[in-house]
Amino acid sequence: MLARKMAALLLKTTATVPQDALTTASLATAAALLVQEQLVSFPTETVYGLGASALSASATEAIYHAKGRPSDNPLIVHISSLAMLHSLLPGGAAAVPPIYHPLITQFWPGPLSLIFPLSPDQHLPAPERTLAPAVTAGLPSVAIRMPQHPLALALIQLSNLPLAAPSANLSSRPSPTTAEHVQFDLGEGRGVAAILDGGECTVGVESTVVDFVQGKEGEEGSLRVLRVGGVSAEEIEACVVRAGFLTSRGEDGRSRIQVYQRDFKSSELEAKPTTPGMKYKHYAPTNSRVVLVRPVAAPSSSTSSANHLPPSLLDLITPFLLPSPPAPVPHRVGLMFTSETLATLFPSWTPTDSGSPLPSPSPSTLSLLPYPLGSASRPSEAAQRLFAGLRHFDQLPTGDGEEARGSEGVGVDLILVECLEEEDGGVGVAVMERARKAAGGSRELEFLRGPVG
Ligand code: TXA
Ligand code: MG
Repeated sequence: MLARKMAALLLKTTATVPQDALTTASLATAAALLVQEQLVSFPTETVYGLGASALSASATEAIYHAKGRPSDNPLIVHISSLAMLHSLLPGGAAAVPPIYHPLITQFWPGPLSLIFPLSPDQHLPAPERTLAPAVTAGLPSVAIRMPQHPLALALIQLSNLPLAAPSANLSSRPSPTTAEHVQFDLGEGRGVAAILDGGECTVGVESTVVDFVQGKEGEEGSLRVLRVGGVSAEEIEACVVRAGFLTSRGEDGRSRIQVYQRDFKSSELEAKPTTPGMKYKHYAPTNSRVVLVRPVAAPSSSTSSANHLPPSLLDLITPFLLPSPPAPVPHRVGLMFTSETLATLFPSWTPTDSGSPLPSPSPSTLSLLPYPLGSASRPSEAAQRLFAGLRHFDQLPTGDGEEARGSEGVGVDLILVECLEEEDGGVGVAVMERARKAAGGSRELEFLRGPVG
């Protein structure tokens, strides 16, 4: 029975690694460094990871040190095969909860992390390979995922090591989606031996973290999404239901999958770092304030009342730039908006204009800088660009033609991020979850969608 189930676990095929000499040599060097218990940053389809052998106590401890990560925030283990997964679990293949089988088949390799129990059970055979204590930060469970990026898979295969890898940013900063972001945060003096450059990450937000909650005797148990990410809760639900799990809907007609914050909250969970991004500050720029905004259409003239009109974009921005000294000072505001909104606000704007300042009618000391999040109808584009946009504005050099003060830049005064549609589920939910954290949970503000000026 079990053998038949496991045989059904066929994984998707992925793109192959380029065979050029540079890639081959870089992979070999990176794998050798990992075997020597060094830290190597590598690309995944979600974000760049800071990798180390998950079997090495010293290497996994060094990850926390390099990132400035609190020691109670556990790491995700990256694997390249089901055999590697089974080698890490007490009880091996039999320890994979059956409800995970369809998820593994559909989403691995890919942006889904699954939580597996590790608690020692006298009746189960010990795992073939023992995870270093720092990986789980003392928890009786481990988060595991099989990444889809060909370089990540090749690196795990070549080193023959499960790789513990958090996102390769300094703790609390936006996650890195290019090798340059990693270099900026961790390049100097942090003990990172190498960065494997695989270009831009295609997904751009981190993996979805899913936990199976065992039911009481005779009950089916349930799935909880602890962090929304590259795979949506709707996709997860559809997948398990199709496979015959969780087919009975709750009496209130609610989703069968519980999503953290949407369907449940727990102060106990929030006190622990096991609900990713809850206990600790996340995704925060250093130099610039982030505010979430929602463009709204003017009400039709029959219902309109001047008292209820939201402010224009410029009126929304102005209070954030006060108080200013008697002499006007230049201000810069980053606009992380969808292409549709940019085109409505600035009719002469086209997507090819990307980074150049927008015409700013008045005051002339205000520069509006666009960072298009792609089309509102394709939130995967916003997912890919969110962290890069926050980093871009936060590190912007001074605007007066002078050299930037140090490599850090001075940032802009304010970054406005447009709220995406979340009703339909999908990756827009994950983007907004990150954007809200970057904004420190501050209120979302409406402004009137219409030409500026
Ligand atoms: O896409 C990703 O997941 C990226 C790439 C590099 O794979 N990694 C990533 O790692 O985002 P990190 O450390 O930034 O976030 C992992 C989250 C942590 O916030 C942690 O709380 C949660 O996963 N986690 C790890 N082990 C867990 C466990 N045993 N139970 C519950 N949550 C766990
Ligand atoms: Mg992270």
